Amino acid sequence: MTEKRQFRAIKGTRDILPPDSALWNWFEQAAREVFETYNFRDVRLPVFEDTQLFARSIGADTDVVSKEMYTFEDREQFHVAHPLSLVDVIRLDEAVAEAWQHGKIPRTTANEAEVIKLHEACRDIEREGTPAVLRFLDSVRNLALGDSLTLRPEATASVARAYIEHGMHLLPGNQKLYYVGPMFRRERPQKGRYRQFYQVGAEVLGHSEAPAIDAEVLEMLLVFFKRVGLANTTLYVNSIGCKECRPKYVELLREELRKVKDKLGADSQRRIETNPLRVLDSKLPEEQPVIEKLPHISEHLCSACRQHFSELKDELHLRDISYDENWRLVRGLDYYTRTTFEVTATGLGSQNAVCGGGRYDGLVELLGGPAGVKGIGFAIGTDRAILSIQESGSSPHVPGLSVLIARMGAKAYPVAVNIAKKLRACGLTVELPPEETKIGKALGLADKLGARYALIVGDDEAASGTYTLKRLADAEQKKLTEGELLEYLESERRGS
Ligand code: HAM
Repeated sequence: MTEKRQFRAIKGTRDILPPDSALWNWFEQAAREVFETYNFRDVRLPVFEDTQLFARSIGADTDVVSKEMYTFEDREQFHVAHPLSLVDVIRLDEAVAEAWQHGKIPRTTANEAEVIKLHEACRDIEREGTPAVLRFLDSVRNLALGDSLTLRPEATASVARAYIEHGMHLLPGNQKLYYVGPMFRRERPQKGRYRQFYQVGAEVLGHSEAPAIDAEVLEMLLVFFKRVGLANTTLYVNSIGCKECRPKYVELLREELRKVKDKLGADSQRRIETNPLRVLDSKLPEEQPVIEKLPHISEHLCSACRQHFSELKDELHLRDISYDENWRLVRGLDYYTRTTFEVTATGLGSQNAVCGGGRYDGLVELLGGPAGVKGIGFAIGTDRAILSIQESGSSPHVPGLSVLIARMGAKAYPVAVNIAKKLRACGLTVELPPEETKIGKALGLADKLGARYALIVGDDEAASGTYTLKRLADAEQKKLTEGELLEYLESERRGS
């Protein structure tokens, strides 16, 4: 008997169903519209990339790369003839030996073990027959010939990769790009934290590092938040210096942290050696008094970074953007330089960051691209932003069903089909039930589906060419010809 199993969405993933999905579409559409007014253009990038792209960009010691990535082998395989003769086995054995010798099979320990096993199985075939052939085939199939791939945990690395791959540095001006889509991190799921989550992000890549770019990006972000009614947000900004001044600050921080090591928890103690900046991120209450006394990066920036940060703050004032300076905002990804920022919102509990971003001036070069390309961008966590909008009770009215057509009688059917088509062509949402029902039942259904109107089409209406339109909110009825009906509903739609 086959097992009766109910499948459920994998832990940390979820289904976005109606009516919420309409809210999601509205949110993403608003982002597109706002970003395009700032001359940003859409990019659609793959959801999986070479694992090394993320390891190099985000940093091998970060939580994202060391613990949270969904990584898998691309399972390319040797072609196995079917049915398999002894000659085929010998040829395959030789092909594997040659591929191994020329490095065409990735030299992992797992692959090495399979190569040894398959050679041994091949040698045993004459003596053992079928069992050895099966062992041989198993090992051939176990060889991981492909690259190591990873589901993207974020998209900045992919944007930088695409920028380099398509020679976009040769295009005029800065490249202003945005993306909308799912990201994957194997984090512990909780409210506002998922393993498949969604981001709306924007990036500017080019040769200029003018603070006006940082400020315009922040202005665009806040204009968007205002447009979607994401109220009660706080913008935090910081500068974490460049490759000249940051290493010196990190060393100073390490020295200071070593002095207070005993007062820190195990995670922070480990980070003193691996990544001392991350200690500043700690939320542990007992570590706070110690962290507060540590040296601030703002006092250790080189003069170019200090000037960049100061000009950014002038630009923010110019644009009427209020912000809090937060010297502890170091962010969890290694590619950042200079400006870093985060936006928090209310109603989210501990996962209250709805957006994070910053500058990454060295990333393109680090990935083998041209020298001197600068970058800055952000990513909004759509799941959290929508949660916050919903919790604040300011969700917009997303138009639902406009008209349900209640039809009765054989002659009414073709008329109903025709009129449904015309109403839909005017942009109205129309439900035409597939089966005929009694008028009372049809009106009940219209009510349950939240339709604004019910249109009654019976044989009499079909013959006379006038229809009864009933508004469900107040039961007001109107008799209208087809032309009047289309005109009336269209003007209603425009007004809604
Ligand atoms: P991030 O801070 O790692 O930055 O993520 C940005 C936002 O994505 C977070 O503020 C949060 O709202 C959302 N987010 C992150 N992880 C999760 C999760 N597990 N569940 C739900 N939401 C999550 C980046 O990803 C950078 N690529 C941003 C950037 C763009 N920097 C420069 N350009």
